[in-house]
Amino acid sequence: MNRTLIAPSILSADFAAMGEAVKTLQKNGADMIHCDVMDGTFVPAITFGAQMVSAIRPHTDLPLDVHLMCADPQNKIADFVNAGADIVTVHAEACGGALDDVLRGIRSYGVRCGVAVSPDTPLQKIGGSLERCDMLLIMSVHPGRGGQKLIERTLAKADEARRFFERNGLSTDIEMDGGITEENVAAVKAAGVNIIVAGSAVFRSADMGATIRALRERV
Ligand code: DX5
Ligand code: ZN
Repeated sequence: MNRTLIAPSILSADFAAMGEAVKTLQKNGADMIHCDVMDGTFVPAITFGAQMVSAIRPHTDLPLDVHLMCADPQNKIADFVNAGADIVTVHAEACGGALDDVLRGIRSYGVRCGVAVSPDTPLQKIGGSLERCDMLLIMSVHPGRGGQKLIERTLAKADEARRFFERNGLSTDIEMDGGITEENVAAVKAAGVNIIVAGSAVFRSADMGATIRALRERV
């Protein structure tokens, strides 16, 4: 099983001090920075674009894990790669039958590619693309905002995915995103997840370092 990583989401950070936020995350032991990009079309909210990624890039050498909650993501890949993204994840629901091409497109830039599935999307919808991504992002909340409660049934999807990857000799990362806290992170890990996204749990904490350590101790 791949090493378990903690990837705090900057969705819950102070947008007026994002450079400081990523520096603090790195200082407090984060393994990656999860960047939640919302375009106001795929999801109602709008958060930030590639400019925010390029703005934080010089403030951390942690991998930037860009989660595109965007329609037509294929048109946005180059901007985020040029901004400094190390992983670009697109939603299967936004790609339809072109998912394989979009993944190939991401990889053609020399960065890792991820596929995200929302809670109501079965793994079967991704089909063969499961074997052609570096990371599977299983949404444990409906995409569009932070601070929601983890949807328990999504754990079974992670377990199903981990069994698929093991059966096929794949070391694909499984990331889970949404509603993860110190209380439920052990169950998330037990379901086969190895990259933990946490936004509000980390940024609402009085002691960010202690919370990141507590998450890591439980996985
Ligand atoms: C939803 C976002 C959030 C965020 C994590 O669209 O993707 O899940 O990353 O938010 P918390 O950890 O606050 O649920
Ligand atoms: Zn996310």
